[in-house]
Amino acid sequence: MPHTFVIFGASGDLTSRKLIPALYNLRRKGRLPEQTRIVGFSRTAYSHEDWRKELAETTAKFTGDNFDGELWEAFSQQIFYQPGDIGVADDFAKLKAFLEEIEGGGDATRVYYLSTAPRFYEPAIQQLGAAGLACETCDCKRRVVIEKPFGTDLATAKALNESVHQHFAEHQVYRIDHYLGKETVQNLLVLRFANSIFEPVWNRNYIDHVQITVAEEVEVGKRAGYYDNAGVMRDMVQNHLLQLLMITAMEAPVKYAADPVRDEKVKVLQAIKPMSAEDIRRDTFRGQYRGYTRHDGVEATSRTATFAALKLCVHNWRWQGVPFYLRSGKAMSCRTTQIVIQFRQPPHMLFADGPRTAADSNRLVIQVQPAEGIQLHFETKVPDEGMKIRQTDLDFNYRREFRGKGMPEAYERLLLDALEGDASLFARADEAEAAWAIIDPILESWRAGDKPTLFMYDPGFWGPEECTEWMHGQGREWFDSCPVLK
Ligand SMILES: NC(=O)c1ccc[n+]([C@@H]2O[C@H](COP(=O)([O-])OP(=O)(O)OC[C@H]3O[C@@H](n4cnc5c(N)ncnc54)[C@H](OP(=O)(O)O)[C@@H]3O)[C@@H](O)[C@H]2O)c1
Repeated sequence: MPHTFVIFGASGDLTSRKLIPALYNLRRKGRLPEQTRIVGFSRTAYSHEDWRKELAETTAKFTGDNFDGELWEAFSQQIFYQPGDIGVADDFAKLKAFLEEIEGGGDATRVYYLSTAPRFYEPAIQQLGAAGLACETCDCKRRVVIEKPFGTDLATAKALNESVHQHFAEHQVYRIDHYLGKETVQNLLVLRFANSIFEPVWNRNYIDHVQITVAEEVEVGKRAGYYDNAGVMRDMVQNHLLQLLMITAMEAPVKYAADPVRDEKVKVLQAIKPMSAEDIRRDTFRGQYRGYTRHDGVEATSRTATFAALKLCVHNWRWQGVPFYLRSGKAMSCRTTQIVIQFRQPPHMLFADGPRTAADSNRLVIQVQPAEGIQLHFETKVPDEGMKIRQTDLDFNYRREFRGKGMPEAYERLLLDALEGDASLFARADEAEAAWAIIDPILESWRAGDKPTLFMYDPGFWGPEECTEWMHGQGREWFDSCPVLK
């Protein structure tokens, strides 16, 4: 069955930096379904040839040594451009005629990828529906991939879902969060559910708490205008951090398929109670890096949080009493995304020569980026020093272990899944809404009051010092470690 991949926002950054390089790499690896055509749609007046030329340069830049001029030449013959404005119905009629022309009037599966600013998602969906581009038959599948952010709060996410569902049934909708395309995130499912040694300890009996950190070294840069409205909660926590939490905390699905996987993920969010004003004062923390308000596009009096930390509790049999600490920030010490499973201390310590804390006990660090892999921390005897002990580690680093294989970009896996109709790694409507239901009260409370205080921090640290104290107040320590795996 031929496939047509239609990109709205064809002239944009995401298309040239991620989407086309991912499609090219899939073709290079022989994974792209045969007869996959790519059609770009945006207002810029390119010819097919202009767009191909521009993409040749950007794809060469973003795929590095994997770029092969001859292969690109063959691949690019299946790339087309149809100029159009999302606001103009007639441009969708033209797009429809063009798609039918290149598909030769035969059956084809189509994936519409909305790689535009979020305000265009709804109009694009409505235009696709009105032009008869959304309805599918048994042989001609129609899917729509929607980029993040999906809404800016619960009400807008619900409205967007309703609008999408006027034309696309839920099984046609793929809400993308590229974190789910990362090998280590998928490997977390394998670690938990394809091994017998982790699952027995993956619960409140053995785990003291979980920390999920997404730290960025960069400041807001060119994205300041967008970021000042969004802040760290909308930009990172509602999507990436909650996705990591769901994968860490979910129960085993009955099988690895889209709905069973997403059913289990949604149950995790449902087990997190929306926070009260008192919970938010006590269990959330916000900060802004010094110098943030000097960026172009940021209000001089902006109180947007560029750093957030929060404690969430998953109220179910597995996790009752085990806090999940989530934290993310810009202008931090380094770039790292890590999930830390901090185990409890042994019930009785024979060898300790001083007071010990939870941080001295076993720890599993799942590093999602920059390098991907896992590190297990455990106690060991120091040689020739009596029964002195100290922590050491065992690690698994993807690149080292699978030398020569190269790590795929997250978009490769996700675009292929969308083409093949596997939605396991995409968010479902109820999942997107349940995530907002957790975040909304926090944003509302932060907007309304002064508590918790907005703390300032210097770029290049792990957020405000007060956040370290806040964690000490919980009897715990942040795992402030730049990538443990190189
Ligand atoms: N860039 C990233 O790394 C990244 C990462 C994660 C998520 N995202 C998300 O992906 C989406 C796209 O991001 P981006 O960085 O690629 O944005 P961008 O560079 O600003 O591109 C926006 C695209 O939309 C097109 N467009 C604007 N108005 C249009 C209209 N009326 N009709 C048709 N096309 C129109 C623009 O082309 P014309 O001006 O030619 O019409 C351009 O191709 C955003 O939702 C963003 O949040 C991006």
